[in-house]
Amino acid sequence: MIYEPSDDSLLLEEYVKKYAKGKSVLDVGSGSGILAEAAVCNKAGSVLASDINPEAVALIKSKGIPAIKSNLFEKIKSKFDLIIFNPPYLPRDSREPKSSQLVTTGGKGGDEIILRFLKQARSHIKNNGIILILLSSLTPRKRILKLLAEIGFKHKVVGSRKVFMESLEVWEIKHNNQ
Ligand SMILES: C[S@@+](CC[C@H](N)C(=O)[O-])C[C@H]1O[C@@H](n2cnc3c(N)ncnc32)[C@H](O)[C@@H]1O
Repeated sequence: MIYEPSDDSLLLEEYVKKYAKGKSVLDVGSGSGILAEAAVCNKAGSVLASDINPEAVALIKSKGIPAIKSNLFEKIKSKFDLIIFNPPYLPRDSREPKSSQLVTTGGKGGDEIILRFLKQARSHIKNNGIILILLSSLTPRKRILKLLAEIGFKHKVVGSRKVFMESLEVWEIKHNNQ
């Protein structure tokens, strides 16, 4: 199943448009490629999309955007100015079909994929680079904030929107020394 762009995609897209110009951009969990396309259209220096789902990778490549099948950063070699991620962030609900859990569920608590992403992202972000990530009020924050402090990163909420059951936030994450 390829994730149909939704409120979370559209909110993050607004910020990708603002941040992408001239940057080398990696879009993790690219899905339909909506965010990678926004980076291309807003004059990013280069754009690479990645997803664990081969169907999504094929779709993005068919749009002429370089894409790679990768479990988070497993197959990613380089460093980027801007890494973007609209992650699966919901706590697991066993009633949800497995196919849609892959695009929505961040693990038992909902924060597990984000924690793995952040641990790996620090080796792939340039010194003055930026991570833009989408978080929901349904995603537990405690372990994310602890990890950011441990790995020497800080965050700022740059955008937010209330939707039906949750509120969404875009976080800008950078090295502490920036
Ligand atoms: C919420 S969707 C976001 C899709 C798209 N970026 C958007 O904003 O509409 C999450 C995406 O992450 C992908 N994904 C889930 N687990 C992943 C992993 N471990 N590594 C890479 N991508 C993953 C899913 O296949 C899905 O395309």
